[in-house]
Formats: sequence, structure tokens, C-alpha cells
Amino acid sequence: MKHYTGEILSHRKHGEEYHSLTIVAPDIAEAARPGQFVNLRPPPDRSFILRRPFSICRVNRSSSWAATVEVIFDIRGPGTAALAAMKSHDPIDLIGPVGRGFVVPKNRQNCLMVGGGVGATPLFFLGEELRAAGKRVDVLCGAARASRLVNTLELKRLGAITEFTTDDGSVGHHGLVTDLLPAMIERCGTEVIYACGPRPMLAAVTALAIEHRIPVQVALEEQMACGMGICMTCVAPIYNREGTGLMNVRTCLEGPVFNGARVAWDRYGAVIDEWDAPPGN
Ligand SMILES: Cc1cc2nc3c(=O)[nH]c(=O)nc-3n(C[C@H](O)[C@H](O)[C@H](O)COP(=O)(O)OP(=O)(O)OC[C@H]3O[C@@H](n4cnc5c(N)ncnc54)[C@H](O)[C@@H]3O)c2cc1C
Ligand code: FES
Repeated sequence: MKHYTGEILSHRKHGEEYHSLTIVAPDIAEAARPGQFVNLRPPPDRSFILRRPFSICRVNRSSSWAATVEVIFDIRGPGTAALAAMKSHDPIDLIGPVGRGFVVPKNRQNCLMVGGGVGATPLFFLGEELRAAGKRVDVLCGAARASRLVNTLELKRLGAITEFTTDDGSVGHHGLVTDLLPAMIERCGTEVIYACGPRPMLAAVTALAIEHRIPVQVALEEQMACGMGICMTCVAPIYNREGTGLMNVRTCLEGPVFNGARVAWDRYGAVIDEWDAPPGN
């Protein structure tokens, strides 16, 4: 993990709703893995103390002195509004790459990536890595409306089969990604699922993956303050490897990617004693 002053190479409006920042940060770009994130500090004039976490959407390592990372985000509050006002050549304080990313399977071939809204951004980097490893990649992405799907053209390019869903029916299937997931699994011969997006979507995708006996890796997006393992604001309830105990785990360091089957989706916010036994044990 490096602390850095990078330079914004470009700031583009991404579709109608999102912003994309490409940042020159060679050490971070070289070390980054899909599913990891960077912590960006909005410009100092508003005295932001906390950095804001963003998934690494893409890296470009073609020039080792000017290798870049790209993030895509929407404006949610003051931090993202200040980042959206930054311009090319502005310096930017960042830390990265942070966390544990997705694992590329050794013995499984057919990978299905499932994304929700702006949460789908890590899938671009992941899809490239999976394809470079010779895997089949299929894509299923959903959002509230067409304008909240991230880069549909690129997702079509990445997927052998790519399907979209929207809550309002403005593009693709009118409904949720989980409506199409069982049929996609059959059609694509899916052997591994990767999912990122809102927590209810991740929980529902995990339940279907377990039903179909398919391993599922999920990228959790919890509220983060320090983003480096100190403050414990980002914890999620995770079962231990044996499934015999439950613990609140820091998603910034031990995640954000977890085995979906080890996330206790119904125990968020509960007081958990160290290695609580799960129900039934
Ligand atoms: C691992 C990770 C990856 C992320 N990747 C992306 C991405 O690629 N694109 C994108 O648009 N958003 C992403 N987010 C969410 C993004 O970090 C928040 O939208 C952003 O921090 C909001 O800051 P704000 O000041 O504009 O809003 P405010 O709500 O005012 O933020 C106040 C504080 O709450 C925290 N916070 C607010 N919302 C969230 C949230 N959803 N998740 C975590 N912390 C939050 C902020 O860090 C900040 O400290 C990611 C979050 C995490 C944890
Ligand atoms: S955000 Fe502080 S410990 Fe994870």
C-alpha cells in the first residue's frame, strides 16, 4: 500500500451520471489487483480529513513512468462533489492499492460477473484479468435505469454473453439481475460467480450461487473512515473458514472481496462476541 501524490491525467464525464478520473500513480497501477481500491482525498480547501474509497476500475501499465489507475464514481455528498470538480493536472493525494481483491480460479473456466449500478466498476479490471488468464467471461449487470449502467459497450465487449436489467425497464430485462441469474448460470455453464453492487443484491446472488453449488466472490462496500485498518467502522460479519464461528471483520483490510458463503448477511449490525457460534452449531 503506497501513500502518494498523483496527478489527474484526465477527468471525463462518464455517461449522464458518472465521473471518471484517470490518475498517474505508477506504483499503485503496477501493484493493483482487480477488486482492490484506492483512497482518494478530496482537495484540501474544504479541509476534508477522511479520504474516500473507490474501486480500481482499470489500470494502464503501458508506460512505467506514467502508469495510471481509473476510478468511476457518482456524486453522493461533499467528498465526491469536490472530486468531481477536479481538473486535469491537479495533484491528488491517494493511498493504494488497498485490500484483498478477487481470486482468479485455477481449475474452473466459466466465470460470470454480476454487477449492480456504479458498484459494477471493478468488473472491467477483473474481466480483463480473467480473459488474459484464458477464462470464459459472461456478464450480467443491472441498475435502476439505463443511465446508471456503467459503460455498457465495454461490458458487451468483455462478455461472451452480456445481459442487462433495469428496475424501470429502460434497457434489457425489466426487473432484477437475480431474475435472470439462474438462466444465465445454465446457459453459460457458470463455474464461478463474481459479484459487486449493493448489499441486498450481493446477498441474493450468494443465495442463488449456493443453491447452484457455485463458489461466489463478493466485493463489499461498507462505510469506511480511515480505510487502512485502524478505526473499525467498516466491519462486516464473516464466518470463519470452518463455519463454526462468526466475527466482525474489517472489510478495508481483510476485504473488500470475500467468499459470499462466509458473509452472515442477516447479522449486519448485530453485537457479535468474538467467534460467536452460528445458529445450529
Ligand atoms: C471499497 C469501496 C469501493 C467503492 N467504490 C466506489 C466506486 O467505484 N464508485 C463510487 O461511486 N463509489 C464507490 N464507493 C462509495 C464511495 O466511497 C462513496 O460514495 C463516497 O465515499 C461518498 O463520499 P461523499 O463525501 O461524497 O459522501 P458522504 O456520504 O458525505 O460521505 C461521508 C463519509 O461516509 C463515507 N461513505 C459514504 N457513503 C459510503 C459508501 N457507500 N461506502 C463507503 N463509505 C461511504 C465516506 O467515506 C465519508 O467518510 C466505494 C466504497 C467502498 C467502501
Ligand atoms: S475503515 Fe477504518 S478499519 Fe476499515
